[in-house]
This record gives sequence, structure tokens and C-alpha cells, in this order.
Amino acid sequence: MKVLGVIFFSIFLVGLVLFQGNADPVEDKRALLDFMNNIPHSRSLNWNESSPVCHHWTGVTCSADNSRVIAVRLPGVGFDGPIPPNTISRLSALQILSLRSNVITGGFPSDFANLRNLSFLYLQFNNFSGPLPSDFSVWKNLTIVNLSYNAFNGSIPSSLSNSTQLAGLNLANNSLTGEIPDLNLSRLQGLNLSNNYLNGSVPKSLQRFPRSVFSGNNISFGSSPSNLPPVLPPSSAAYPKPKNSGSLGEAALLGIIVAGGVLGVVAFAFLILVCCLRRKRELRLSGELQKGEMSPEKVISRSQDANNKLTFFEGCNYAFDLEDLLRASAEVLGKGTFGAAYKAILEDATTVVVKRLKDVSVGKRDFEQQMEVVGSIRHENVVELKAYYYSKDEKLMVYDYYSQGSVSALLHGRRGEDRTPLDWDTRLKIAIGAARGITRIHLENGGKLVHGNVKASNIFLNSRQYGCVSDAGLTTIMSSLAPPISRAAGYRAPEVTDTRKAAQPSDIYSFGVVLLELLTGKSPIHTTAGDEIVHLVRWVHSVVREEWTAEVFDLELMRYPNIEEEMVEMLQIAMSCVVRMPDQRPKMLDVLKMIENVRRLDTGNQPSSGNKSESPTPPQLVVGKESFTSH
Ligand SMILES: *[C@@H]1O[C@H](CO)[C@@H](O)[C@H](O)[C@H]1NC(C)=O
Ligand SMILES: *[C@@H]1O[C@H](CO)[C@@H](O)[C@H](O)[C@H]1NC(C)=O
Ligand SMILES: *[C@@H]1O[C@H](CO)[C@@H](O)[C@H](O)[C@H]1NC(C)=O
Ligand SMILES: *[C@@H]1O[C@H](CO)[C@@H](O)[C@H](O)[C@H]1NC(C)=O
Ligand SMILES: *[C@@H]1O[C@H](CO)[C@@H](O)[C@H](O)[C@H]1NC(C)=O
Ligand SMILES: *[C@@H]1O[C@H](CO)[C@@H](O)[C@H](O)[C@H]1NC(C)=O
Ligand SMILES: *[C@@H]1O[C@H](CO)[C@@H](O)[C@H](O)[C@H]1NC(C)=O
Ligand SMILES: *[C@@H]1O[C@H](CO)[C@@H](O)[C@H](O)[C@H]1NC(C)=O
Ligand SMILES: *[C@@H]1O[C@H](CO)[C@@H](O)[C@H](O)[C@H]1NC(C)=O
Ligand SMILES: *[C@@H]1O[C@H](CO)[C@@H](O)[C@H](O)[C@H]1NC(C)=O
Ligand SMILES: *[C@@H]1O[C@H](CO)[C@@H](O)[C@H](O)[C@H]1NC(C)=O
Ligand SMILES: *[C@@H]1O[C@H](CO)[C@@H](O)[C@H](O)[C@H]1NC(C)=O
Repeated sequence: MKVLGVIFFSIFLVGLVLFQGNADPVEDKRALLDFMNNIPHSRSLNWNESSPVCHHWTGVTCSADNSRVIAVRLPGVGFDGPIPPNTISRLSALQILSLRSNVITGGFPSDFANLRNLSFLYLQFNNFSGPLPSDFSVWKNLTIVNLSYNAFNGSIPSSLSNSTQLAGLNLANNSLTGEIPDLNLSRLQGLNLSNNYLNGSVPKSLQRFPRSVFSGNNISFGSSPSNLPPVLPPSSAAYPKPKNSGSLGEAALLGIIVAGGVLGVVAFAFLILVCCLRRKRELRLSGELQKGEMSPEKVISRSQDANNKLTFFEGCNYAFDLEDLLRASAEVLGKGTFGAAYKAILEDATTVVVKRLKDVSVGKRDFEQQMEVVGSIRHENVVELKAYYYSKDEKLMVYDYYSQGSVSALLHGRRGEDRTPLDWDTRLKIAIGAARGITRIHLENGGKLVHGNVKASNIFLNSRQYGCVSDAGLTTIMSSLAPPISRAAGYRAPEVTDTRKAAQPSDIYSFGVVLLELLTGKSPIHTTAGDEIVHLVRWVHSVVREEWTAEVFDLELMRYPNIEEEMVEMLQIAMSCVVRMPDQRPKMLDVLKMIENVRRLDTGNQPSSGNKSESPTPPQLVVGKESFTSH
């Protein structure tokens, strides 16, 4: 019996170890299933017990090591009824919880007190009732709380002051009563208490907010000095004045010293400045889209197209809809060959890139077909297409956001200023990663898929700092072409200019230009001090022909020792990619092998030249290595 026990125990231990290695958070998974199985919902979730929670379950995000669930976003799933106790609350590592726009009833779950790391809580548009939690001090990290559009009653607890990180608090459209406590929250930027039954006066600590955030209550506004009428119309005044609003005083002082008329000008300028600052924060994607060439009434709205929705790809665990996206705050990232790109931050802090395509030349079916091809690519060196949207007037694509910016920005940004140079190892990894990504793309669609827009601004750094390519497969559905004198045109293979048709060899050419860009630090088309337009490929050719090879390389790279051979080797590969005749260029797989052989980065050690022998040799190129030593 004892022996049997020991054996069972060992099996249990081994099992435990294996489970740890497998890294699916079992406990959290159980908690989520208990939640789902005990609350009715009208939309079904793909939460399959036998699929891994971290990569397949809609609305669930895990920590980097997949050991815990850290975010649950389930807006609009049709949850109906109270939150079953002891379910969500077991996700003790949870940081983001969004259950907004459901029909959840009952009180605020008291066991949420176990969610010590909770930072973002979105429960707006439900049917919660009863009092707010009395003790907010359990959530030290609470940053945004949105409980608007519910039926909470009772008073606002003063313990909110203990959530010192609180930046946004929305309690609008509830049934809260009593007076507003003096909330000492220095980080609070967004506040909305409108449409409740609050009374009394606005406490001193909250007088920095515009009156409109207290509207729809029975609140008296004292005559304190900071109670100036709001500078902006109420709708856009959700944020307090910028910290330097004290400079109104300075302006007044100036006015006394100079003349009354000048004061007006200064104050006016100040108001405009404040307005602009606020405008900037208030940008919404929908507003950004309106600013495009389209007339406002053409902007997508639910009323216009009944079945308009974002199409997500399988395995994508984002949970938001078109309206969320349009409501997201937006920032223009750039205007690309195929249209503008925006960085959109959804209200639960998810950040995505939204590309708005202009000049799409195909109909819905072809568009969808191409999206399915592109969206099915899952590779660590290809930026994932998460979702797309197609309507007559609007075509949007949603990608992951990469915080470090594009390789173009990393390479050319803030030149001449005090910038951190992009070192050679990073450039090598960019080249290797991008080559792997393009190789993968070229295998797609029966080996016929063309990227069509390989350029430094479409390459990003993945979590391992390797290159990762974006924007694949759009040329075939677009009718636009970059203007001839633009950075983008500098990547275009000669035959594309004539035929207007991209093919895999033209991708190789463009990739060769990217390699040259990494080596030289120069843009593919740039102007010299004398306004002369320089094509990078021609310039490199001319310099190399004159045997001034060392002149080619980016000055930033000169500080790193012992990399000359690698750079020259990379230069040879680049030159082989940008030969004029398409059929003389190497295939992407060969380019990849050559680049991987410049240095075997993945193994971590620098090989001697001996084990490079099996690599395909790039076409011969005479390079004057001697000239290095003179630098
Ligand atoms: C869950 O996944 C398994 C295997 O992947 C599959 O056989 C089963 O049908 C799925 N169940 C549901 C409810 O989708
Ligand atoms: C909460 O966050 C902290 C810091 O990120 C982390 O150390 C801790 O393990 C988290 N707590 C839980 C229960 O995951
Ligand atoms: C609180 O949030 C900050 C930043 O969001 C994070 O660095 C910190 O680890 C968090 N602490 C806990 C206890 O979660
Ligand atoms: C939600 O609450 C409101 C007001 O209490 C009520 O009128 C409405 O019927 C409720 N909705 C549902 C779906 O229970
Ligand atoms: C809040 O509403 C509940 C019913 O939903 C009621 O029983 C309770 O007395 C109310 N509390 C206050 C303070 O109004
Ligand atoms: C939380 O706030 C309340 C009221 O402001 C205060 O009495 C209490 O001591 C605070 N608790 C902690 C843990 O800071
Ligand atoms: C809370 O939700 C409302 C309604 O969805 C939204 O307008 C508001 O921006 C949100 N506030 C915060 C601070 O997230
Ligand atoms: C919010 O509250 C105001 C005032 O009580 C009411 O007029 C409005 O209809 C409410 N909005 C919603 C969406 O419930
Ligand atoms: C407000 O809180 C800060 C720390 O967050 C503290 O230093 C300050 O004394 C508090 N002020 C009041 C009036 O309680
Ligand atoms: C606010 O309303 C409560 C009842 O909800 C009442 O007891 C209190 O006296 C009121 N305060 C003021 C200042 O009107
Ligand atoms: C609003 O508050 C004032 C006192 O602050 C009170 O006299 C008045 O009756 C209140 N009105 C309502 C509708 O509660
Ligand atoms: C506050 O909420 C109300 C009701 O949702 C809304 O009408 C108003 O625009 C909001 N105010 C601000 C400043 O966000």
C-alpha cells in the first residue's frame, strides 16, 4: 500500500512539473469556466476546455510567461444576471477587467477585493445596483474606474482617496446621493459625476474640473476664485486644466506692466494654446477618419450599414467592436503609400494600429480573399493582421502596435541630434528577421504571394528585437503607386516603374535597398546640401566602383570594432539584390541563408570564417577593403 502511495505521489509530482512546463494557468482557466458556466450570456464564447487559455480564448490575455491571466475583456457578450461569486475574484493577478455593455445585475461583487492588482475596471452600461464598495484602499493600483450607466446608489466613499493612482473616475448616470467627499487624488485627470442625485457643493480638491462634470445633480457652485467659466464647450472639457494654467497670473502681471491691449492678446494666445492642447488629447479615430478627403456623412456609422463589423482572424484574442475602435483616441502615425496609419488606444488601454486604405481597386469578395491569405500568416517576423473592415466607402486594417516605432524611424530619427545610435548587432537582427518574414510571405498562396511594399517604415522590432515585416500583400488590391520622388519610390525595382506590377523579384530589390539603408544610414532617395536628388542604389554603385567602399558605411557604425568584414559581406548581398535584371536577383530563401551566414546570431557565438563554407556565394563584387584602415 505504502509503495503504491509513493508511486501515485511521484506521478502527481511529475504531473505537476509537466503542468508548470506547459504553462497554461490551470487555476485561472477553472475560474473563468466557472464564471462562464454560471452566468447566462447571449453570445457564445470560444472558451473550449481543451484549448490553451492564453492563446485561443476570446477576451483573455495572459502574463508574458503565460503563468497567469492578467486581463479579461468581455464587452457586449450579453451577460445577464449577477456575477457568480468566487469566480472572477480567483483571478488574483488580474489587472484589466472589462465587462461593460452587458446586462449584469446585482451589487458590486464584494469578492473583487481579492483582485489586489486591479488597475483598469470597466463595468459601465450594466444594471449593477446597490452601494459602491466602501473600502477602495484594497486596490492600490487602480488607475481607471468606469461604473457609469448603472444603478449604483448610496454615497461616494471617501476611501477613494486611498487609490492614489486613480487617473479616471466615471460614475455618471447612476443614483448616487449625498455630498461629494474631498478626494485628494493628485493624478486624477478625467472625472464625471453627472446625472446622479448628489447635493452639497464641489469640494476644493475637485474644483479644478469644469462644472459640466457635476451637471445633472443638485450641486451648488461656490464663488471660489478658481471657478472661472470653462474655457471650452462642456462636451470636450473632460480634463482638468493643464498644470501651467497658473500662468494666467503671469499674463496678468505682464498686462499691468505693459498695456491693457497687450493683455488681451496674451490671454487670447493662451486660450488658443489651451484649446489646442486639449484638442490634441481629445482626438478620436472617428474624428480622424472624418478629416480625410471624405465628407463627414460618409464616415461609417452603425446606422449606415447594418451588418458592418470588424472581421477578426482566428486565434485573435482581442475583443472590441467597430464602435469601440471609432471611439478610441487616435494619433496619426504617418501617411503611407496606401493610405494613412493611426495609433488607436481603446478605452481599456489596448493599443492597435489602424490603416485606412485609399484607392482599393477590387470588390468586396477579392478584398476578403486577399485578407484571408494575409491574415492567415502567423510568424514571429510578420506583423499579424488582426482584423479588417470593408464597406463601400471605408476599408480599414487592424494590426498590432509596436512601441519602438519603425526601422525607418530608428534609423533616420533625430539624426544630428543627441540620439542613441542603432548598433550593428541590432541592424543584423533587423535584416535577419525581415528576411525570414519575407521568405515566409513568399511561401504563402502556393508560393506566389508578393509583399509588394518592402521598406524600412514597414519593418518593426519584435519582442526579441528581430525585424518583423508589415503591410504584406496589398499591392494586388490597390491602384495607387507612390509618387516618383518620394522615399517610398526609392525602394521600387526598375521593372515595377514600367509595368506597375510587383512580383517576388521586386520584393528582393526593395529588400536590397533596405539592407543598403541599414548599412549606409541614408534614405533610399534623399537630397544633398546642394538640392541634388540622390538615389541610394546609384550612389552606392558609384562609390563602390570608385573603390571607396568604406565611405559607404554609416558613420554611426564606425565606433564598433571588428565588424568591417560583416558589413562588406552584407553589402555584397545587398548589391546582389538590387541588380537591374529581375531574373538575376537571388531568391528570398537564398538571401536569407546568406544573411544568416554573415553571423550565426541565434547560436550566440561568432563563428570563424571556416563554417561559412556551405553558404551560397553571392555574386562577386570587387571591394577595396584596404581603404578601411584609413578611417
Ligand atoms: C473543443 O476542442 C476539441 C479539440 O480541439 C474539439 O474536439 C471539441 O469539439 C471542442 N469543443 C467545443 C465545444 O468547441
Ligand atoms: C501583482 O503585481 C506585482 C507587480 O507587478 C507582482 O509582483 C505580483 O506578483 C502580482 N500579484 C499577483 C497575485 O499576481
Ligand atoms: C502597479 O502598476 C504599475 C504600473 O502600471 C506597475 O509597475 C506595478 O508593478 C503595479 N503594482 C502592482 C502591485 O500591481
Ligand atoms: C436594467 O435596469 C433598468 C432600470 O433599473 C430597467 O429599466 C431595465 O429593464 C433593466 N434591464 C434589464 C435587461 O434588466
Ligand atoms: C439602494 O437601492 C436598493 C434597492 O436597489 C435599496 O434597497 C437601498 O435602500 C438603496 N440604498 C440607498 C442608500 O438608497
Ligand atoms: C482609506 O481612507 C479612509 C478615508 O479617507 C481612511 O480613514 C483610511 O485610514 C484609509 N485607509 C488606508 C489603508 O489608507
Ligand atoms: C466611461 O464610459 C463612458 C461610456 O462608455 C465613456 O464615455 C467614458 O469615456 C469612460 N470614462 C473613462 C474614464 O474611461
Ligand atoms: C443619463 O441620465 C440623464 C439624466 O438622468 C438621462 O436624461 C439620460 O437619459 C441618461 N442616459 C442614459 C443613456 O441612461
Ligand atoms: C494629499 O495626498 C498627498 C499624497 O498623496 C499628501 O502628501 C497630502 O498631504 C494630501 N493632502 C491632503 C489635504 O490630505
Ligand atoms: C443632501 O441630501 C441628503 C439626503 O440624500 C440630506 O440628508 C443632506 O442634508 C443633503 N445635504 C445638503 C447640503 O443639501
Ligand atoms: C437642492 O439643494 C438645495 C440646498 O443645497 C435644497 O434647498 C433644494 O431643496 C435641493 N433641491 C432638490 C430638488 O433636492
Ligand atoms: C459626463 O457624462 C454625461 C452623461 O454620460 C455626458 O453627457 C457628459 O458629456 C460627460 N461629461 C464629460 C465632461 O465627459
